[in-house]
Amino acid sequence: MKEKLEKIKAEALERIRNASSMDNLNEFRVMYLGKKGQMTEVLKSMKTVAPEERAQVGQMVNDAKNEIEQCFEGMKKNLETAMLNSRLKKETIDVTLPGTMHKTGHEHPNSLVLKEVEDIFIGMGYEVVSGPEVEYDHYNFEALNIPANHPAKDEQDTFYIDGDILLRTQTSSCQIHEMEKGILPIRMIAPGRVFRSDNVDATHSPSFHQIEGLVVDKNITFADLKGTLNEFCRQFFGENIKTKFRPHHFPFTEPSAEVDVSCFKCGGKGCRFCKGEGWIEILGCGQVHPHVLEMVGIDTNEYTGFAFGVGLERLTLLKYEIDDMRLLYENDLRFLNQF
Ligand code: DAH
Repeated sequence: MKEKLEKIKAEALERIRNASSMDNLNEFRVMYLGKKGQMTEVLKSMKTVAPEERAQVGQMVNDAKNEIEQCFEGMKKNLETAMLNSRLKKETIDVTLPGTMHKTGHEHPNSLVLKEVEDIFIGMGYEVVSGPEVEYDHYNFEALNIPANHPAKDEQDTFYIDGDILLRTQTSSCQIHEMEKGILPIRMIAPGRVFRSDNVDATHSPSFHQIEGLVVDKNITFADLKGTLNEFCRQFFGENIKTKFRPHHFPFTEPSAEVDVSCFKCGGKGCRFCKGEGWIEILGCGQVHPHVLEMVGIDTNEYTGFAFGVGLERLTLLKYEIDDMRLLYENDLRFLNQF
C-alpha cells in the first residue's frame, strides 16, 4: 500500500510539473484527484488496511493528496502567469509610431470668391436667395421677355428635359421667382449653377455658375445701377479699378450694358492678361425691362429696377489668374491647396 502510494504520488507530481497547458493540467487533476481518480481509489481501498495501521496509512494518504493538490495549484498559477505574459507581449502597442494621416479637402476657389461677392452685397443691404436648377421655359425665357422665336433662345443652347421643362441656362430665372413673391422692395443676389450644351474647353463648360442681382424699388435709376456695380468692382478688384459701361442688348433689360474693368494686371496699358485691350469684360446688366415687371404684376408707374448677371468662374479665373477653367472642375488637391 505504502509503495503504491509513493509511486502514484511521484508520478502525479512529475506529470503535473511538466504539464504544457491548462487543458493538460486539468487532465492530470481528473486523473489523480477526480471522483474516479487514482487517489480517490486509494482512499476507498483503506478498508482493506489492517485496523492498527489504518491511522498511519490514512495520514500518509492525506499528506500525499495535499501535496498533489498544492503542486497542482502552484502549477496552475505558473501557467496562468505565462499565458498572460505571452498575451501582453503579443498585444503590445507602440504608441510612438506615427498615426495614419487623413487627407483633408480644401475650400474651392469658386466658394472663396462667392463668399467675397456675397459679403460685398450683404454689406450693401442685399439678401442672398436661390432658385431651382430644373426650370420651366416660362421662368428661363418667356417671363424674361424672351419669346419662343427669339434668337437669344438659340444662343443659349438649352438642355431640354421634357416639353417645357429644362435645365436653366441663366440665373435670371431667379428674378422672376423673387418678383412673383410680391414683396417689394427687392434687393437680392441669387448665386447658382446654370447649364448650356457647350463643349468643354479652357473657357467653356456645360455647367458653370452665375450670380444674379436684382433691385426693384421706387425711384431706381441707371445711376443706382452704376453706383452699385462701381462699388462692387472697387471692393472686389481694388480701389484703383476703373469701370466702363458699354451699351449692349439683353431682352430683359432696357437699356442694357456690359461692364468692363480696367486690367488690374497692367493698369489699362494693355498686356497678355487683357489681350492687349487694357479692359476686361466682367458682367451684363441693365434696367429691368418694363415688360418684365408688368408680366409679374408690378406697377411700372411706381416701381423701377435694375439687374445684373456675372459668371462666378469668370471672377475666379480673373481673381486668381487661372488660365484654364477646367482646373476648377478637377478637384485636384495640388491645385485647390494653392488658394
Ligand atoms: N442672363 C445673362 C446671361 O446669362 C446675364 C445677364 C445680363 C443677367 C444682364 C442680367 C442682366 O440680370 O441684367 O448671359
